[in-house]
Amino acid sequence: MSAVVVIGSFNVDHVWSLPVLPRAGETLQGEYRTGPGGKGFNQATAAARAGAVTAFVCALGADAGGQLARALASVDGIVLRDAASTHPTGTAGIYVDREGRNSIVIGAGANAAMTPAHVRAQGDVFADARVVLAQLESPVDAVLAGFDLARDEGVPTLLNPAPADADLPAGLLAQCDVLTPNESEFSAQLARHCGEPVEPGAVAGMADAELHRLCRRLLPHGTVVVTLGARGCLVSHADGMLRGDDAAFYRVPAVPADAIDTTGAGDAFNGALAAAWATHPAAPFHVHVGFASLYAARACESAGAATAMPHLADL
Ligand code: RIB
Ligand code: NA
Repeated sequence: MSAVVVIGSFNVDHVWSLPVLPRAGETLQGEYRTGPGGKGFNQATAAARAGAVTAFVCALGADAGGQLARALASVDGIVLRDAASTHPTGTAGIYVDREGRNSIVIGAGANAAMTPAHVRAQGDVFADARVVLAQLESPVDAVLAGFDLARDEGVPTLLNPAPADADLPAGLLAQCDVLTPNESEFSAQLARHCGEPVEPGAVAGMADAELHRLCRRLLPHGTVVVTLGARGCLVSHADGMLRGDDAAFYRVPAVPADAIDTTGAGDAFNGALAAAWATHPAAPFHVHVGFASLYAARACESAGAATAMPHLADL
């Protein structure tokens, strides 16, 4: 049985470390490396290494990138349910500057070919799942098919609404039990779904009670975890989501890290959160968020995205 099912993207990441991010017309020299990434695969790797039996529903090309995904999934014991695509496996070009800021370009490739039919054909892994986790780097109708399936099976859903500019229709929001936006994703979805224009830069400075009020508007029936980097995260629950000594809203502090590469830090957080929730479903939610914060901090201390995900023993 798979405790966590991740629906999402696999990318081959091409990463250049540069003193500054390039401007139009500029040619710069940087240090290059490549490795596995994609929000979906990063989150699946994190969930598996954080201790949950994990399945990954995705689409891969018939090329070296697809072979890499298969080989890595097998090393981490991830049950791979990939749709074959005639497009090349997904890619990401990532520039990282001296301050650790990044600019990312995605070539969706095979990821764009995942269909609702492919997701629905994986009904056996959904039937066994404890948590279904997705992001928005894959076609939204495929993600929705997975969440519909989860609902039918009574399995809770966790959506990481990344990237911020992706389409998140109201019908998908309605199927989410937990939503984990960062500042810019929170701002984008508030504008889209609630007519509440809040600048991304203003989110971190808001009082917890005000963030809670906005979270209740965005997802009245569920839990919202707004991730705020060094300021930790704000957790806001609907009454029906409270477990044990959970409060209606609270802040979970960030865990200090000697960060060398924050690529995939959000993915580490989401994969670990899903794993903790799936393996300890009766525990209060704040315990899971605390574990995910620790896990994400450790992931920032290694280079790369999927390869940087720590094993339980390294925590
Ligand atoms: O979240 C980090 C990921 O975003 C990278 O691995 C890259 O592939 C992009 O999808
Ligand atoms: Na990292």
